[in-house]
Amino acid sequence: MGISGGIAAYKVPILVRLLVKAGAEVRCAATRHALQFVTPTTLETLSLAPVYSDLFETGEPRTTHHVSLKDWGDMMIVAPATANIIGKAACGIADDALSTLILAFRKPLLICPAMNSDMLRSPALQHNMELLRSYGARLMPTVCGELACGTTGDGRMAEPEEIVRYAESMLADEQGQGSGLRVLVTAGPTYERIDPVRFIGNFSTGKMGLALARAFADRGVEVELICGPMHLTVNHPLIHRTDVESAREMYEAATRLFPSCNGAILAAAVADYRPESQSQTKLKKEGSEGMTLRLTQNPDILASLSAMRKEGQIVAGFALETDNAMENATAKLQRKKIDFIVLNSMADAGAGIGTDTNKITIIDSDGTTKAGNLKSKADAAADIAEHLLSKIHR
Ligand code: CTP
Repeated sequence: MGISGGIAAYKVPILVRLLVKAGAEVRCAATRHALQFVTPTTLETLSLAPVYSDLFETGEPRTTHHVSLKDWGDMMIVAPATANIIGKAACGIADDALSTLILAFRKPLLICPAMNSDMLRSPALQHNMELLRSYGARLMPTVCGELACGTTGDGRMAEPEEIVRYAESMLADEQGQGSGLRVLVTAGPTYERIDPVRFIGNFSTGKMGLALARAFADRGVEVELICGPMHLTVNHPLIHRTDVESAREMYEAATRLFPSCNGAILAAAVADYRPESQSQTKLKKEGSEGMTLRLTQNPDILASLSAMRKEGQIVAGFALETDNAMENATAKLQRKKIDFIVLNSMADAGAGIGTDTNKITIIDSDGTTKAGNLKSKADAAADIAEHLLSKIHR
């Protein structure tokens, strides 16, 4: 554990405790400023080892801790990581115990930034984070919420539980315990612009798509997650997220990423139509007459991926139906020539858009169906992920 001087350091004892509970041995290295926020006694009590914070510590004259600790640890988590320590790590500056250790550490490195939103947005910090990524470090996304400076915004450190989960999957991934599989998932709505301030969209929140991405990632599968506009965030080292706005952007991202995947499950609520033309200026209302908006059809991403798939690639979709659910879903499965379709019936209470639960039926191309009970979206996603993975021949 590397700890630098931010208010989020008060959460580090909890993080150390969780790591120890998860079976890890922990050693702490802290900057002088970090020890203003959390005491060495607390850290030493929880980690059962001295805190390394002084390069010139007396006692063992020939021991260079930054060298012995770098070999000792399997991974290093820097939390909280201030803009200062990120800058030093990115530029190779080693002027105290922690920065020297980071520079010498050549194993998996997870950096958990925490700072004020303006600092986070600064081009210098963003550039430094990009540099660290290019050197192989992982950066834990920050979270929006109340900040120590009294404002609300992006910049909070991820919660200790999230960091532990992330670190565990990161370590499993680095140690080659992944499945070697990759799956594409689409999630959320699409927005089709009418003019600079208006769009055609739908009520999809992206919850089901994100639950699916997590279900695959938890099974060691790498995920290419393509998200329409949504507020939800996802933190997992195996999930690579691409954000898009419109159906055409989603189509482009999906057709680009699909060839390197073993399968795809499309959970996005894609707009079937978009305005024929987009006005560059805000449309004005004219008189009291109604107005007509001409629409043109969007590409069908699911049908396109099915058409371009190579031997062995599995393609699956969703069917959100309000009536004649089974007939409509089966017709969709056949029309789009996919391996299976997940039927979401809006007629079932607790199922569908925005809810935390779902009731699904999986219909296979050979006609077999698997009906599920009402369960959490996470559990429904696990069933779907298992079903898709069982179809991939390894
Ligand atoms: N889908 C897609 N691209 C589109 C429209 C839909 O990839 N342009 C995918 C969705 O992600 C979902 C599946 O197709 O997995 C079913 O979407 P749905 O809109 O219910 O089906 P449609 O074919 O559009 O049929 P309809 O709107 O007539 O019900």
